[in-house]
Amino acid sequence: MASFDILLLPGDGIGPEVMTEARNVLSWLNTQKKTTFQTEEDLVGGSAYDKHKVAISNSAMDKALKADAVLFGAVGGPKWDKVPYEARPEAGLLRLRKDLGLFANLRPAICYKALSDASSLKPELVEGLDILIVRELTGGVYFGEPKEIVTLENGEKRAVDTQVYTTHEIDRIARVAFDLARKRGNKVHSADKRNVMRSGVLWNQVVTAVHAKDYKDVKLEHILADACAMQLVRAPKQFDVIVTDNLFGDMLSDEAAMLTGSIGMLPSAALGAPDAKGRRKAMYEPVHGSAPDIAGKAMANPIAMITSLAMALRYSFDMGEAADLVEKAVTGVLEAGLRTGDIMQPNRKRVTTAEMGKAIVKELDRLAG
Ligand code: IPM
Ligand code: MG
Repeated sequence: MASFDILLLPGDGIGPEVMTEARNVLSWLNTQKKTTFQTEEDLVGGSAYDKHKVAISNSAMDKALKADAVLFGAVGGPKWDKVPYEARPEAGLLRLRKDLGLFANLRPAICYKALSDASSLKPELVEGLDILIVRELTGGVYFGEPKEIVTLENGEKRAVDTQVYTTHEIDRIARVAFDLARKRGNKVHSADKRNVMRSGVLWNQVVTAVHAKDYKDVKLEHILADACAMQLVRAPKQFDVIVTDNLFGDMLSDEAAMLTGSIGMLPSAALGAPDAKGRRKAMYEPVHGSAPDIAGKAMANPIAMITSLAMALRYSFDMGEAADLVEKAVTGVLEAGLRTGDIMQPNRKRVTTAEMGKAIVKELDRLAG
C-alpha cells in the first residue's frame, strides 16, 4: 500500500478550523485502505511568530522540504499588524513558496451549478464556468531585488520593488500552462503589460517562442492584463487557461474566484519542477485568507480546504479517482442545499464549518458505497 507524508500547516484565523475538516477527509481516505496518509503538523504565520518570533521556523521548513506534500490553511490577522516586516505572517507563506521552488500556482475557478445564482454576475454568464489561472509564483515583483525603503538626502523616503523575469522562468511557467490546456479546452490566454513594462515584452516573446516551438496545437492569445481583468467580468466563459506573472496572477485570481460566488470555494496548488523521479514539491492551499473577522465562530467554509486536498490527491499522489470522489461529494452536499454563511441563499440550510465537513465525509461514505 502506498504511503505518503503530509505536513499540515493550519496557520491563523480560520486556517485551523478548515484544516480540521480536511484532516477528517484524510482520515476517511485512510479508512478506504488504498493508501496511508501520515500527517505531521507545525506552525506558520502569526501563530509561529507568537512561539518562535519568525513566520516559519527552520524545523517547520525542514519538515516541508521532506514531506510528499504540504497542506496550508491561511495566515495573517490584525493581531500581527505591528510585527517586524520580515516576520509578518505572510513572510512564512512566501518563504515556503521560494524555498520549495513552487513556481507554478494553479488556481481553478469553477462555478458549481448549485451556486450559479450566488455570483454577483448574471447566472448565465457564470454557469458552467471552468477557468484555470496559472500564476507564476516565485518571481516577479514579489521577490525582485532591490526591495527596500531608503531615506534620501533631502529626508524624503523612496520605496522600490523590482519586477524582474528571466527567460527560463517564463519558459517553464508557459509550458505548465500549455500542458494543462491540452488536458482541458486547449486554449491559453497569456496576460502581460507589454505596452508599459519591459518584463511584459520579454514575457510575451518567450510565451510566443515556446508556443511556436512545442505547442502549436494549443490556441494561444495574448491579452493585456488590464483587458483580461475587464473581460473576466464581461464574458468569463471565453477563458480556458490564463497564464500570467506573480502580481497580475494574484489579482486576476481573486477576481476570477469571486465570479464563482464565493472565494471560500476555491482551492489552489503550488508546484515545483519535477525531480529525477518525476516527483514535484507541492503545497495546496485555499485561495481565501485567514478571515479574522469570522475566525473562531464556526462560520468558515471548509470547501476550498477540502478541494485543495483533492488537488493534492490529483497532482501529488496520482489518485485522480479519489480526487473526483471528493469533488463529487462537495457537489452532492451543495446540491442537497447545505450552505455556510458565505454562500447562503434563500431556502437553503445554513450549517457550521464542522457540519459542512461532516456532511462531505458522510457523502463520501455514500458514494464509496
Ligand atoms: C495569495 C495571497 C498572498 C499573495 C499573500 C497572503 C502574501 O494574496 O496567495 O494570493 O499575495 O500571494
Ligand atoms: Mg492573493
